[in-house]
Amino acid sequence: MSILVTGGAGYIGSHTCIELLNAGYEIVVVDNFYNSKKESLNRIAELSGKQFAFYECDIRDAEGMDKIFKNEKIDAVIHFAGLKAVGESCQKPVEYYDNNIGGTLTLCDVMRKNGCKKIVFSSSATVYGSNNISPLKETMQTGGTTNPYGTTKYMIEIILSDLFKSDEEWAISLLRYFNPIGAHKSGRIGEDPNGIPNNLMPFITQVAIGKRECLSVFGDDYDTPDGTGVRDYIHVVDLALGHIKALEKVLGGTGLDIYNLGTGTGYSVLDVVKAFEKASGVKVNYKIVDRRPGDIATCYSDPSKALEELGWKAERGIEEMCEDSWRWQSQNPNGY
Ligand code: NAD
Ligand code: WQD
Repeated sequence: MSILVTGGAGYIGSHTCIELLNAGYEIVVVDNFYNSKKESLNRIAELSGKQFAFYECDIRDAEGMDKIFKNEKIDAVIHFAGLKAVGESCQKPVEYYDNNIGGTLTLCDVMRKNGCKKIVFSSSATVYGSNNISPLKETMQTGGTTNPYGTTKYMIEIILSDLFKSDEEWAISLLRYFNPIGAHKSGRIGEDPNGIPNNLMPFITQVAIGKRECLSVFGDDYDTPDGTGVRDYIHVVDLALGHIKALEKVLGGTGLDIYNLGTGTGYSVLDVVKAFEKASGVKVNYKIVDRRPGDIATCYSDPSKALEELGWKAERGIEEMCEDSWRWQSQNPNGY
């Protein structure tokens, strides 16, 4: 069974490649290294003890993608490739719509021309917008996204749903991730953001290693137990394992399914800081600043549908997430 992994050199993609190889799948990785390094591919091979095919290609390049489908026998696609920085998407909306939506359209077109109609897609909890009350369920209304990045995920969900309505031979899984953190236990692969991290955990680990002076906590006046924002942090290896379950489902039949991949538990910013300090033994310097525009107070999942239908549930707790994030950062202070 051969699985095409778009964006396989990136953070979640690289962890998923390892779990796919461990589970006995053959993989074909495509990435343009816009937000990743070739070294992550070497480490996937090192950790899995397996070799795999790789193509440096932009998923918007229809000819290049078609060649990959002609060269390899692809049974299904796990589609991670995309741009993901919320703030940047407000500065560069055209680039975000082009890459995320244009890339997905080209990919789907090449897939159907080559008779491959099975896809697992990286969606996001961001599609729930700001009006739903947590715990968030897959049946809740989506939309009302507050930035172009989030809107690309919302639109791609609609596009893939319309595709399925037009041709029920497709098997499509839309996975709504909550907040992935952590890293592979080995400390050899992990999240390697360019420049100043946008997300909480890489910012915390960079303060802890001395690359940044102080964490700015965005607001302590939310309606949450300690006033700071509450999120559903999920270990990236649990997330990767969720993809294996979703893949089994799309390989097993046709249909369109949507799953939350989260733990169902919310932690505040200060809970995460404390858990990280405990796990690493390092004090994290922080200060409270104004709220970040576009943030909501609380966001966590109801993950019960994935348990009932896929038999998947997140197993790793916040302490392990912090330990593994720290191992990756301390062993690779400058990333790959
Ligand atoms: P990442 O940036 O580490 O990985 C994405 C990969 O896709 C990178 O290696 C990048 O080089 C590649 N890529 C981007 N555009 C491409 C293109 N046009 N052609 C080929 N390759 C391209 O991001 P990640 O955190 O691993 O996220 C993976 C997916 O999950 C993304 O679609 C992201 O939007 C989604 N997601 C991420 C999070 C999160 O917090 N990390 C949460 C929800 C959803
Ligand atoms: C978490 C909490 C911040 C940084 C984003 C995207 C979402 C998804 C995951 C892709 C919030 C606080 C953060 C900092 C802070 N990505 N924070 N200081 O905003 O929940 O979700 O990433 O799909 O779409 O929006 O994640 O890690 O940025 O923030 O206080 O320096 O940490 O306010 O409460 P977020 P995050």
